[in-house]
Amino acid sequence: MTRKYVIRTFGCQMNVHDSERLAGLLEADGMVAADDVEDADLVLLNTCCIRENADNKLYGTLGHLVSVKARNPGMQIAVGGCLAQKDRDLIQARVPQVDAVFGTHNVGRAAELLREAAATGTAVMEILDEEDAFPSALPVHRELPYTAWVTIQIGCDNSCAFCIVPSVRGKEISRPFDEVVGEVQGLAGAGTVEVTLLGQNVNSYGRDLTHRRPLFAELLRAVGEVDGIRRVRFTSPHPKDLRPETIAAMAEAPAVCEHLHLPLQSGSDRTLAAMHRGYTAARYLERLAAARAAIDDLAVTTDIIVGFPGETDDDFERTLEVAAEAAYDSAYTFVYSPRPGTEAAEMVDRFVPAEVVAERFERLTVVVERSALARHQARIGRVEEVVVEGPSKKHPAVATGRTRQNKLVHFPVDGAIPAAGSFADVRVTGSAAHFLRGELVGLTARPRHKTRIPLAVV
Ligand code: SAH
Ligand code: SF4
Ligand code: F3S
Repeated sequence: MTRKYVIRTFGCQMNVHDSERLAGLLEADGMVAADDVEDADLVLLNTCCIRENADNKLYGTLGHLVSVKARNPGMQIAVGGCLAQKDRDLIQARVPQVDAVFGTHNVGRAAELLREAAATGTAVMEILDEEDAFPSALPVHRELPYTAWVTIQIGCDNSCAFCIVPSVRGKEISRPFDEVVGEVQGLAGAGTVEVTLLGQNVNSYGRDLTHRRPLFAELLRAVGEVDGIRRVRFTSPHPKDLRPETIAAMAEAPAVCEHLHLPLQSGSDRTLAAMHRGYTAARYLERLAAARAAIDDLAVTTDIIVGFPGETDDDFERTLEVAAEAAYDSAYTFVYSPRPGTEAAEMVDRFVPAEVVAERFERLTVVVERSALARHQARIGRVEEVVVEGPSKKHPAVATGRTRQNKLVHFPVDGAIPAAGSFADVRVTGSAAHFLRGELVGLTARPRHKTRIPLAVV
């Protein structure tokens, strides 16, 4: 009988994309996707460990799977990803029912490890400490054919004091330029209209490949020129490495979307220095202003951490000020979570009390939602180009799609929802902090052309 798998993904886009590869590998191995863990022969958890609640989620989910496995002893449980890389043998020590554990550097080995576990009847664990080269292309199962993640870089060479990513994803390795462009050409040939370039610090793309800089700006232009690609997105750029050339490429390459996710982390120079972020609040705001001046109708989103060790009321006030000045379209706000092995986790004597952090978090949410709402309200009345994703989760007669600024828009349609990947013109009629409402003006095949705006000096 054909074996069925379920993959549960935690964490960031890198993991989402790794899960597409894992699905591709399992399918190449003859398996098919199951809808539910109850009728799966394999449940694979692709884990994250960026914050402590990510750890808790894994162990909570494993608790549930163990009870499913008790009813269905033939089921295999596998754990991969960043938390597996960090916790290694601890996972099987805590949950002996786990059949296979693999890390971030050997995703391609998952199917073999599972076969080995089944053949020997014993649990297997394989964690490698690093990759010597960019992993070769693996089969990929994509949920949505019109949009695709494209890895341009793995690992991270920065040392932000709060962050565990460098220790679980290894050193920074850029994928060869031609290989990236080649993958995008292949995707476009198969009908993909939107790509998102992935890396922990995309602005430093290529610094291990060539001394010729800046390669990321060139890559954006090259990918944007691939026939059939209408939207290019990328995540994440590091503010310290955001170069004028990248801003120019965003402004000039018609396919590159008007959206910049620029993680601030803190608005206090003291905190930014303690975090080793490599920029000041003023420098951040200067670069943001340059990007806004050059790129017409730019949406800006960010990540902010509240309660980094030693954060005073005054430091936090700076964060509120910078967040208000940056006028974000949306922000992912996080409560600082100590990660074992990171520099900040050692600063125990400077941890901020939980109730102080909670109060700051609420205040920051108010500031961020205020600007999000204002920026969304300003869009009312405009006609936006939307790529349809499918029916809205709440109302099957309402379509959901994304604008070039990556905003979610819900709009009612008469009859069938347009196919995922269709382009529509939608007039914005209403707004909330996290989405827009609209009405369909018409389906379109019209490519969008940007006017060229001269680059401001950064
Ligand atoms: N490479 C990206 C960040 C990846 S992690 C960058 O530098 O922009 C995504 C976000 O998680 C970070 O931007 C940060 O805001 C948050 N984060 C990382 N470690 C954290 C921790 N220990 N506690 C709370 N939030 C954290
Ligand atoms: Fe973590 Fe900093 Fe690297 Fe981002 S740039 S992954 S926050 S160490
Ligand atoms: Fe999490 Fe790993 Fe991404 S720790 S945020 S899944 S790189």
